[in-house]
Amino acid sequence: MTRDDVLEVLAVPAWDAPIDAVQSARAVAALEDGRVLFFPFLHFALQESEKRFLTVEALEPGRKNISFDPESGTCQGSRHKGTEAAELAAMLERFARQAEALVLALAPGYAGQLERARTSFRPAEIEDRASSVRKDDRLLHVDAFPTRPTRGRRILRVFSNIAPDGAERLWRVGEPFPEFAKKFFPRVGGGSPRAAWLLQQLGLTRGRRSAYDTIMLGLHDRMKEDRAYQAGAPAAEVSFAPGTSWIVFTDQVLHAALAGRFALEQTFHLPVAAMADSARAPISVLERLAGRALA
Ligand code: SIN
Ligand code: FE
Repeated sequence: MTRDDVLEVLAVPAWDAPIDAVQSARAVAALEDGRVLFFPFLHFALQESEKRFLTVEALEPGRKNISFDPESGTCQGSRHKGTEAAELAAMLERFARQAEALVLALAPGYAGQLERARTSFRPAEIEDRASSVRKDDRLLHVDAFPTRPTRGRRILRVFSNIAPDGAERLWRVGEPFPEFAKKFFPRVGGGSPRAAWLLQQLGLTRGRRSAYDTIMLGLHDRMKEDRAYQAGAPAAEVSFAPGTSWIVFTDQVLHAALAGRFALEQTFHLPVAAMADSARAPISVLERLAGRALA
């Protein structure tokens, strides 16, 4: 696999640039097909006063990200207090709004269905980060979170590299989801409805896990634990320079973040029914393999 297999390059010059119907159709098809939309000319502009946030010192000790919750309007994981915290929150809010405007311009069909979730600021160097295999995002994976079941809803993420020091963000992108799923689906179970109920009752999941969520977590873990797959799987390395942005369905695209620091990321959720072609959603792929409904 090469960089050209995994990236769809769009020469969009600004977050609020008009997108014509041809460009939009191309973007949606590529995105839903599991390609990374790459915007080499799209940078997130920091105000002069915001440049002081570009340090790992912005992090609360022991945290790797700062996250902004659109419901509460506040940040978590930051060392900043008072006015500084409010300014940092305002910066992340601005990124969230610009990211949302861009996604809706690219995919007008998602309007009214796209749900804005958390924004994150990731100042820490990825390369230095030691963690357990399951938490190690330097290994190929699809996103699936133990505490946040989606019941099939999509996870769409907008990233922007805002490194002040030239650091590129280096990713590996793996094979298409259907090909990966064919290999790994037989190795995971769907869990029991009773166990899912219990996890929810105990407050360990936000909402109830569906069979889909349990399978996705299984795929995430089996893939990270499989050393032979990690070493030999089809994949392409792509680097995202400072001043560039990219959009990707991270529940579908196999990805690993190998190196880099200072990125912004906005998460959205999208119901499968809002897609132009819902047959490409991971839940649809897995339901075909399972021969039954999974959520
Ligand atoms: C990930 O979603 O695995 C991490 C991506 C990144 O921070 O670049
Ligand atoms: Fe991930």
